[in-house]
Amino acid sequence: MNHEDDEIVNDSNEPHFTTVAAGALSRRSVLTGGVAGFAAFVAGSRLLGGSPAFAEHAGSTSAADTENGRRTARLLGFDAIPLGFGDEVVVPSGYSARPFIPWGTPLLGSFPAFVPGTPPLVPGGNTASDQAEQVGMHHDGMHYFPLEHGRGGERGLLVVNHEYTDEGYLHTGVTQSSTWLTEQKAAWTLEMVRKSQNAHGVSVIEIRRRQNGDWRVARSQFNRRVTANTPMTFSGPAAAHRLLRTSADPAGRTPLGTVNNCAHGYTPWGTYLACEENFNGYFRLDAGSYDAEHAALNARYGVGGDRNNWATNDPRFVVRAAEPNEPSRFGWVVEIDPFDPGATPVKRTALGRMKHEGAFIHVTRGGRVVAYMGDDQANEYIYKFVSAVNWKSLRARGRSPLDEGVLYVAKFADDGSGEWLPLVHGRGPLTAANGFADQGDVLVKTRMAASALGATPMDRPEWTSVDPNTGMVYCTLTNNTSATKVVNAPNPRKPNRWGHIVRWEEARGNHTATTFSWDLFVLAGPGRDSATPDGSTILAEDAFGSPDGLWVDPDGRVWIQTDGAQPQGANDQMLAANPYVEDAQGTPEIRRFFTGVTNGEVTGVITTPNQRTMFANIQHPGEGGGSTWPQDDGLATPRSATVVITKDDGGEIGS
Ligand code: FEO
Ligand code: CA
Ligand code: CA
Repeated sequence: MNHEDDEIVNDSNEPHFTTVAAGALSRRSVLTGGVAGFAAFVAGSRLLGGSPAFAEHAGSTSAADTENGRRTARLLGFDAIPLGFGDEVVVPSGYSARPFIPWGTPLLGSFPAFVPGTPPLVPGGNTASDQAEQVGMHHDGMHYFPLEHGRGGERGLLVVNHEYTDEGYLHTGVTQSSTWLTEQKAAWTLEMVRKSQNAHGVSVIEIRRRQNGDWRVARSQFNRRVTANTPMTFSGPAAAHRLLRTSADPAGRTPLGTVNNCAHGYTPWGTYLACEENFNGYFRLDAGSYDAEHAALNARYGVGGDRNNWATNDPRFVVRAAEPNEPSRFGWVVEIDPFDPGATPVKRTALGRMKHEGAFIHVTRGGRVVAYMGDDQANEYIYKFVSAVNWKSLRARGRSPLDEGVLYVAKFADDGSGEWLPLVHGRGPLTAANGFADQGDVLVKTRMAASALGATPMDRPEWTSVDPNTGMVYCTLTNNTSATKVVNAPNPRKPNRWGHIVRWEEARGNHTATTFSWDLFVLAGPGRDSATPDGSTILAEDAFGSPDGLWVDPDGRVWIQTDGAQPQGANDQMLAANPYVEDAQGTPEIRRFFTGVTNGEVTGVITTPNQRTMFANIQHPGEGGGSTWPQDDGLATPRSATVVITKDDGGEIGS
């Protein structure tokens, strides 16, 4: 959950979309065809013109199986569970789930045990330096890197983002009123700021599976914490740019730390991408006469708020007219090498600056890397970065595939076609006359550049994922209830209380293409057969809202995680969809797999390569109260944690 990502700072309203075809909700009406390269796997899907094989209902397996030559119709082998309302994790019968690596788990150095609260508020509680040696708070996107090739189920590195902190739980161990942070400002200490900063960032954790199937944390040389104060470097076209220079770093090359790491990515060369989302709220914006350029940057990126009281004691988070650039050193994708604990993380500026939700990497047949990225704010955009050439050839020459390439933003047309617009200095409106003097300007001001190109405003783009079998790209649009919400074909509901999932095929199946065809995979909500469908296309038994986390596993299961309002006021959840089987109305088969705890989000999902262990996170349990999860530590303080899910018969998760 993000405190201010509903806030509107992009008021651009594409006139092209002010009238919306009523047919936008009719998912079969958005076809453009021309995607013959995908016939093997999406034969019959609506993107190819509709038809027969997959129009069979989920229960009818033979047609789908025959068409695909795969186990498509039998992709989901578990019995769906009902909506969850308790303070516990529930998974289907035949599966087990247990909490793992909760916030505060000892990881490094002196391996300090978890003790809730910060001295002197709570004498004997964990200090800032303790927190720097423990797992951070509020687990989010994550990836599992196997350490032993070929035996990947047994030993690996789990790399986990820690999106943000609940300062009440962090410093006192119990929930606090919504006004507590503000009331405490005068008494806030540097120790509290440092502890909060150390609870942010990323954990790299070596984990091993015992003979009995239990996973445990290894006291490993790989274990590492990256925090809001870890030294980093800038790379790519905006490195050393005038807008990235500060008194502490006059060269604009050495930023400090990463914050609000929401979703993530991982590369074929074995690195992790932590993405910086709501960085803006960590700053206090002092009044003053900012020049027009900084005033515009502050407004468009929503800088200000001092959400975590960091500005009370850390001047780096105070923005002044004389020192205006620190916020622009955030909002990037950060590359971390989990296999080298001494490696300096790198902010890759070529991937643009936004409220990065994630950066899902797809490797093209020609070996280029494509990063799909959402900018999570109402009416912001979907992007992709395409590396200049084959990633292996770039790395062989000591260059990064994430430094050289083209960043594009998506423009969706009402007819189901779409276009990728390049954010390249000098092209179209991206000129000095319009405030883009060089490519660094284009990247630091990515949102403004995308608006200048006429990108399509979306309902808060969250995670992206590519089906490795079909090349289909999925993106969750979590919801958009703002008064200034833009209505257009890919975002047809106003208000969009429940969110939806859009998907697209790149032209000719080529992920470097500059055109695509799209449709709406599902419109979430109470269900089309419920008393209050609210425009939802799913079935009532599969009801969900606020899709956020998303991952298409190697077999094609689309795992959907939620963050926010659920039908019937239920807890957040995770479902699996089978995109290869749909009913007569075009709704894919969906089954609810996991329900979360009271006032907690479900986010982050990955399996080991053998797909026999799944990791998923409960984030911010009991935000606002009501939870003591995980109960197995005997503490009243709720703690974000990973959940380890296994199938009791040792089989593949979801099968
Ligand atoms: Fe951190 Fe967009 O959710
Ligand atoms: Ca979210
Ligand atoms: Ca998210």
